[in-house]
Amino acid sequence: MEQKLKVGILGATGMVGQRFITILKDHPWFEVAVLAASASSAGKTYEESVGSRWKMDEPMPENVKNLVIRDVADVAGVAKDVDFIFSAVNMSKDEIRAIEEEYAKTETPVVSNNSAHRWTEDVPMVIPEINPEHFEIIPYQQKRLGTKRGFIAVKPNCSIQSYTPALAAWKEFGPKEVVVSTYQAISGAGKTFKDWPEMQGNIIPFISGEEEKSEQEPLRVFGSISGGKIVKAEGDLKITSQCIRVPVLNGHTATVFVNFREDPTKEELIAKLREFRGKPQELQLPHAPKQFIQYLEEDNRPQVMLDVNYEGGMGVSIGRLRKDSIFDWKFVGLSHNTLRGAAGGAVECAEMLTALHYISHK
Ligand SMILES: NC(=O)c1ccc[n+]([C@@H]2O[C@H](COP(=O)([O-])OP(=O)(O)OC[C@H]3O[C@@H](n4cnc5c(N)ncnc54)[C@H](OP(=O)(O)O)[C@@H]3O)[C@@H](O)[C@H]2O)c1
Repeated sequence: MEQKLKVGILGATGMVGQRFITILKDHPWFEVAVLAASASSAGKTYEESVGSRWKMDEPMPENVKNLVIRDVADVAGVAKDVDFIFSAVNMSKDEIRAIEEEYAKTETPVVSNNSAHRWTEDVPMVIPEINPEHFEIIPYQQKRLGTKRGFIAVKPNCSIQSYTPALAAWKEFGPKEVVVSTYQAISGAGKTFKDWPEMQGNIIPFISGEEEKSEQEPLRVFGSISGGKIVKAEGDLKITSQCIRVPVLNGHTATVFVNFREDPTKEELIAKLREFRGKPQELQLPHAPKQFIQYLEEDNRPQVMLDVNYEGGMGVSIGRLRKDSIFDWKFVGLSHNTLRGAAGGAVECAEMLTALHYISHK
């Protein structure tokens, strides 16, 4: 791309915002032009405001240190300086719904990490390897919003990315009843152990709203467009879940039991995981993992410490596939919650939207 697209980050000071900044540091298509956060951060330089709140392993990139943070609420001011925005703000759902629509109406595409619009009928919720065709709903949304280039697209919750890719790879075998337990990292709550010392050596058996998302969002990802709306997958797939916070910094693990309509062999199941490719691989998007799903043969994998950064945190690791005594099969999945599950997934969505010409220079 001759001239990079200018991007703004709403929620730039937070955990996901910081991930966006590190991912976009040397991005071949996008450059960070605007950083925005709450009114209490606005007016300070990024370095002044974030300082000791910087949570990434790598140092704060030089290109953002002296950018003066804008107020997310200054929609017109932010919109005039960017081609599109990433959104990862901690506000109420109603506030997020309203402000993301305001940005879209300034003809600024919004690629969001927030859950507020995940069930808005004409907003695509996409894992680019699985359901990129849902972006075709965008013209219907633009008609409702009265926009030509502005729209909202979202990525699903981080918890589902450790098992939904496997269910997608096994689609032809007809996954039906699925029982999932997720073991979720503290960065999923925007925290490190420094912010949340009581999580050391601890387990908390509750993450607000997470079980509903883990059970319902895959059904929307597997859904289709009908009458200008995204409708949930019809059929017999049912998911039940328990979501547990565990003392891990990055990486959501899922243990999964699954019944199928068909009777696949272990070899067939593993082959489908390894062969699974999507449009991001076909288009060779900058953040597309070459291999989306790896299958690990060792009994003690996937492990957070060894596997969370597979394919730069954009790949998904599956292991321990074995016959079960009640269900057909069981397995363990792992994905990086702030890369594949949040900022990385959103960047891959934006790359796909750019490749499909939904995002372009203003
Ligand atoms: N962490 C994850 O793994 C993950 C995964 C998927 C989705 N998400 C979603 O992404 C969003 C951000 O998560 P996070 O973990 O990055 O949260 P976080 O670390 O708490 O950061 C929140 C960000 O929102 C800003 N903010 C808070 N109140 C605001 C207001 N009233 N107006 C404007 N900006 C405001 C904060 O700015 P100040 O610094 O100025 O307060 C900060 O930049 C949430 O909706 C979360 O559910 C997170």
